[in-house]
Amino acid sequence: MDDGLLAAIAATAGTPVYVYDAGAIRARYAELDGALREDGARHHVHYSVKANSNAAILGVLRELGAGVDVVSGGELRRALAAGFKPEQVVFSGVGKTPSEIEDALRAGIGLINAESAAEIEAIACVSARLSAKARVGIRVNPDVTAETHPYTRTAERGMKFGVPLDEVIGLARRIRELPALDLASVGMHLGSQITGDAPYRAGAAKLGTLVAELRAAGITTLTSLDVGGGLGIAYADGEPALDPAAFADAVAPLGRATGLEILVEPGRYLVGNAGVLLTRVLYTKVSGGHRMLIVDAGMNDLLRPSLYQAVHPIWAVGARDAAATDVVDVVGPICETGDFLGLARRMPPARAGALLAVGGTGAYGFTMSSQYNSRPRPSEVLVDGEHWGVIRERESPEDLVRGEHGTPRWLA
Ligand code: LLP
Repeated sequence: MDDGLLAAIAATAGTPVYVYDAGAIRARYAELDGALREDGARHHVHYSVKANSNAAILGVLRELGAGVDVVSGGELRRALAAGFKPEQVVFSGVGKTPSEIEDALRAGIGLINAESAAEIEAIACVSARLSAKARVGIRVNPDVTAETHPYTRTAERGMKFGVPLDEVIGLARRIRELPALDLASVGMHLGSQITGDAPYRAGAAKLGTLVAELRAAGITTLTSLDVGGGLGIAYADGEPALDPAAFADAVAPLGRATGLEILVEPGRYLVGNAGVLLTRVLYTKVSGGHRMLIVDAGMNDLLRPSLYQAVHPIWAVGARDAAATDVVDVVGPICETGDFLGLARRMPPARAGALLAVGGTGAYGFTMSSQYNSRPRPSEVLVDGEHWGVIRERESPEDLVRGEHGTPRWLA
C-alpha cells in the first residue's frame, strides 16, 4: 500500500484507522501453503481468528480455501457467519464453557482440542446430552521452550496450556471408554512470534513418538496432527522471521511418517504485515529534553507496544525519503505513562496534522483494542487491488454506553 493511498484513506475515513491489504494476505497464504505442499505434506491451514477477526478478512481467507482455528463461542459464530463450513473449524482454548461446547457440537464442527482431563469429561457430558458424537483432539504440553516474549510462550512445563506429555496415553484410554468421543487428533501450540524452526522440530519429534505410543496402546482413531501456530514475522526489514520452507521441513516429515494430515494454525504470519494503523499527530511537545508526538491513537487502539514492548515500524506518511533528523516518542492520548506506540524513534520533523503509519498491525491490533478512557474503537478498511472500502465502522458515542443502566435493572 503506497503512501498516497494511505493518505487518501485517512482523509476520507478519518483516523485512527486500521488498513489491511487483501493482496498481501493472499500472497502470504500462497507462500505457506506452497511450502507445505512442496514438502509433500497432506495439510490444511486453519487461520487463527484471534489475530484479526473482521468478517471481510475471514472472507478473504475462506476464498483461499483456509479453515479456521477459533477459541471462543464468539469466534465460532464469526467463522460460521463468514461461510466457513463447520468441518473446517478447529476449536482450541483452555477454558471452553459448557455452552460454547454445546454450540460447537450443535454446529457439527470438525475438531475440539481439549486441554485437560476435566475438559474431556465436560465435552463427553455435553455430547451425551445432545446424543452427538464429538471429534476431539488432545493439546499436548510438550515442554518445549520457544525464545519469544514471556507472555507468548505456552509450551513449557507448568504453564496453563495443554496436557502434560506423560498424561496423554492415560487420557486417550479414558476417551476410548467414552462412547460419545473419538480421539481424532493430538497437537501442540508452542507460543507466538517464533522465528526459528528448532522449537517446531523439537515439538514434532515429541508428537511423532507420542503417535507411535498411542498406536501401540491400541488407539486407532487418529486422523490429524495439529502443529499449532506461532510462525514469527519480521516487523522491520532485516529482523529474523520464520522461513516457511524451514517450517515445512520441520513439520512435514511428521505427516509423512505417521500418515496423518498436518493442521497448521497461523494467525500473525498471514495477516500481521498486511495491516497498518494510521494515526494523526495532534500536538508536539518537548518535555525534559524529550521530543514527543502526541497522536490520536493510543494503547486502547494498539496494545502491543505497551503490553509486550513490541517495536512496530512507524513512518511519516508521504515523507519516507525526508531526513530523519528528530528523535521522538510517539505517545497516545491515554492517561497512562505506558501509553505509547513507539519510543526514541528517528523520524523527519513532524508537525500537528502530520499522518503517521504504524506497520505490522494487521494481527493482534484491532482484536486487542478496547474502549479504555471511553474512546470509541477505530474503523477498519480493506484495500483490494484498485478498490478500498470500510469493513468496520468507527464506533459511535452511543456504542460506548450500549447495555449500561444508569439506574440498575434491579434483580433482588
Ligand atoms: N493456535 C493457538 C492454539 C493459539 O493460542 C494461537 C495464538 C495461535 C494458534 C496463533 O498464533 P500466531 O500464529 O498468531 O502466533 N497477542 C499476542 C499473541 C498471542 C497469541 C495467542 N495464541 C501478540 O500480540 O503478540
